Amino acid sequence: MTAASEPRPRLVYADKIILAPMVRIGTLPMRLLALDYGADIVYTEELIDWKLLRCVRRENDVLKTVDYIDKTDGTVVFRTCARERDRVVLQLGSCDAGRALRVARLVESDVAGIDLNMGCPRRFSVLGGMGAALLGQPEKASGMLRGLVEGLSIPVTCKIRVLPSLEATLELCDTLASSGIAAIAVHGRTIDERPQHANRNYVLKKIAEHLSIPVIANGGSKEIEKREDIFRFKQDTHCSSVMIARSAEWNCSIFRSTEMLPMEQVIRDYLKLAVDYDNSPSNTKYCVQNILRELQESPLGKRFLETQTLEQICEVWSMDNYCRAKTQEYRVKGFQGRFEVAPERLGILSSGGSKRKLEEEAEDVQLMCCAFLRNKYNDESSLPKSRLARWTESNRKKLPSYVTIHEEKLFRSVVLVDGRKYGSSFWEKNKKWAEQGAALVCLCALGVIDPETLTKSGNLLA
Ligand SMILES: Cc1cc2nc3c(=O)[nH]c(=O)nc-3n(C[C@H](O)[C@H](O)[C@H](O)COP(=O)(O)O)c2cc1C
Ligand SMILES: *[C@@H]1O[C@H](CO)[C@@H](O)[C@H](O)[C@H]1NC(C)=O
Repeated sequence: MTAASEPRPRLVYADKIILAPMVRIGTLPMRLLALDYGADIVYTEELIDWKLLRCVRRENDVLKTVDYIDKTDGTVVFRTCARERDRVVLQLGSCDAGRALRVARLVESDVAGIDLNMGCPRRFSVLGGMGAALLGQPEKASGMLRGLVEGLSIPVTCKIRVLPSLEATLELCDTLASSGIAAIAVHGRTIDERPQHANRNYVLKKIAEHLSIPVIANGGSKEIEKREDIFRFKQDTHCSSVMIARSAEWNCSIFRSTEMLPMEQVIRDYLKLAVDYDNSPSNTKYCVQNILRELQESPLGKRFLETQTLEQICEVWSMDNYCRAKTQEYRVKGFQGRFEVAPERLGILSSGGSKRKLEEEAEDVQLMCCAFLRNKYNDESSLPKSRLARWTESNRKKLPSYVTIHEEKLFRSVVLVDGRKYGSSFWEKNKKWAEQGAALVCLCALGVIDPETLTKSGNLLA
């Protein structure tokens, strides 16, 4: 890692091709892949301020990364490395100027820029006053941005969506630009418009002509299938730079200045980085799924959907040898995976728990990354759920109750036992397995199972 005190080039946003912020897609391996292929700047997925504030910063000597690790559950919230330091922009989700600045200061020496997300229409963000909620409060947003601009040595940007009226949009842009931001990224759809709606390129053009700071055009993926399309989008919008989300999610080689690459190559390039940076199997799987898309229905795709560990995923593309060798190399160097930071405490109970709120309440759940490997159990009574049920009976507690969420074709569960919640952060391919995974985590926390035996059996994942 380069010393934080070394003078660093200030990030310039003009005339750039940029990987857009994407939740779960924009983690380190995908960002590095985009840079390898030719992206100039990469944005992280949106990181929520209070989640980052709960992290400790660790320099990982084995992986050669800087990790921000959640003190309460040991998960890696943000992982970065020297190779991207001068080109990575961390996108913040925040609704509070003080908190935003505190987080930004925390990560300032590890990233090249800070972006404030003002375009996210997800219910979770808007209810929390973050994301698109800020579009309706230009003065507040501009105040938050000014605080960041004045308090940081690195440039600050924001990412917005257009408003239904052009005049209002231009006015909003003026207010935001007056905060001293270095550039503004604009998605040419309103909060209520969906990806299938046409992007309002003419509004982007007006904004670009109106502002003196670089405007970064976004929202063009429906029309971006190859390199030339990026330049056409840039021309149509008169914007200084282009930011790409979905086209890159599906085919990251869109950033290459020469020909694009076959899917298999893109997946293999991605998997190598996922292994090199010990990316979680669930995140890796999610990203590969979004490259494969319809091909998930193919025989290879079906084989892929069966996988649970990084090694199993790699095996589908004949990279399991590479994965094993790398894992072994890291182990020899003393890398323990994410469990180097032990969870600080068991969660505090909040009553009930609907599926919808599972993710948002994650702070109350004691999480481990535990895969349920079906072939390790030969009879019904040895299954984690059965063992947990027996434990509750013999300790005169209520029977365990499970809540499961699913995203795409993957599942995660939380189990409530004796007033506490336990869950596995590993995405399983069905509800039953997700429940077994949560039960395993609970059994570990209760001391019924020794986590060491799970690590040995490969259930507990780094
Ligand atoms: C999977 C996915 C995750 C996204 N996550 C974020 C995010 O974390 N922050 C954000 O500002 N926008 C997010 N977006 C929106 C994109 O950054 C972008 O504005 C939108 O997809 C339009 O650009 P495109 O046409 O190039 O896809 C996300 C989009 C996708 C498809
Ligand atoms: C990327 O696009 C090229 C050109 O259309 C195509 O041949 C290739 O299979 C695509 N790769 C992925 C990962 O979809």
